[in-house]
Amino acid sequence: MKKKKQNKKIALITGVTGQDGSLLADFLLKKNYKVIGLKRRSSTFNTQRIDHLYTDIQKPNNFKPYYGDLTDSSNLIRVIQSTKPDEIYNLGAQSHVHTSFETPEYTANADALGTLRILEAIRILNLQKKTKFYQASTSEIFGNSKPPQNENTSFRPESPYGTAKLYAYWIVKNYRKAYDIFACNGILFNHEGPKRGETFVTRKITRAVAEIYLNKRRTVFLGNLNAKRDWGYAKDYIRSMWMMLQQKKPDDYVIATGKSCTVRNFVEKTFKVVGINIAWKGKGLNEVGYNSKNNQVLVKIDKNYFRPNEVYHLRGDYKKAKKILKWRPKISLDEMIKEMVLNDIKILKKS
Ligand code: NAP
Ligand code: GDD
Repeated sequence: MKKKKQNKKIALITGVTGQDGSLLADFLLKKNYKVIGLKRRSSTFNTQRIDHLYTDIQKPNNFKPYYGDLTDSSNLIRVIQSTKPDEIYNLGAQSHVHTSFETPEYTANADALGTLRILEAIRILNLQKKTKFYQASTSEIFGNSKPPQNENTSFRPESPYGTAKLYAYWIVKNYRKAYDIFACNGILFNHEGPKRGETFVTRKITRAVAEIYLNKRRTVFLGNLNAKRDWGYAKDYIRSMWMMLQQKKPDDYVIATGKSCTVRNFVEKTFKVVGINIAWKGKGLNEVGYNSKNNQVLVKIDKNYFRPNEVYHLRGDYKKAKKILKWRPKISLDEMIKEMVLNDIKILKKS
């Protein structure tokens, strides 16, 4: 008997040019999905992370970029109407916490209302039965609630970003209940890797250490060294997004490693990769990190990197994801830092 040809599943990813969006596109293409990627128009190139997916525009493949913006309902409706995705991953966002204090209204528009716009599009187009929805929620919604944080921890966001993401979290739950949409919140803790944006603290540090190692710079300026984060590996976290949408029932899950460390520890670990031992002296804004072998000052504090409000300690409890999704992190923090530093050295040597 002839085997019936199965149609490819279609996934729409908002934020496909970002760290997670580009990794998820790779992941889903490997799983034989057809991937629609929403990208913003920009006056300079913003597609470096996905250029490898469509180098030859004449040769159609399973990846198709569309122009779009989360602040534009008609555009979202049109793209969803013409592509009718089986799964939508809403990863697009103004995702920088510090920047959200400078652009609170835009952050709310893109991160909170952007999520509502997609849910409304699913409803208006009557796709409730067909389209599953993943929302990129975040540990920032817990703010300064005591660690370890899990699905039952109370929400105390400390920034316009965290507050916008909390709206998105709740509207996903509202629409799931009211309209029976298969919609999940992935409450992901910080996750990093070589594709991380250069203004987030991990990549800022790995890049600076690579430059210092290659004698291309002398010091790195940082803000609060005492903040603690639960840093995981982005590729591990991408897997969990897809897993959530393959369950029988939609639900919300914390994704984390269960371990945290300070920005200060992260700096020490990163310098160690290039054989430099960092020691500290001084206090507050005058604290410095120096090479213990030759006393050269390599880390300084700049008050401009402190935020109006700080989230002091995020550490996730991912028991639910472990039990139900059978998800667990695979790559350790030390392995990840090494990969990031070596990658930055490689990039700098080429430039
Ligand atoms: P990212 O690297 O900053 O990427 C954000 C993406 O959103 C980029 O593609 C960006 O486009 C796009 N975008 C921004 N504003 C948009 C708008 N108005 N309309 C359409 N697209 C827009 O972020 P990420 O680290 O990949 O994170 C992915 C998602 O997970 C975000 O929603 C973030 O808030 C959330 N999250 C991230 C983490 C983490 O640790 N990485 C943890 C928890 C939750 P451009 O390239 O044009 O700027
Ligand atoms: N960015 C940055 N730059 N952060 C610094 C610096 C610096 O020079 N110095 C110290 N930090 C501290 C920040 O104050 C914060 O406590 C911590 O480093 C981490 O900052 P970011 O790397 O900017 O990440 P974030 O935790 O604020 O937000 C990231 O993780 C969230 C999940 O918890 C982003 O990816 C968010 O989009 C995500 O939701």
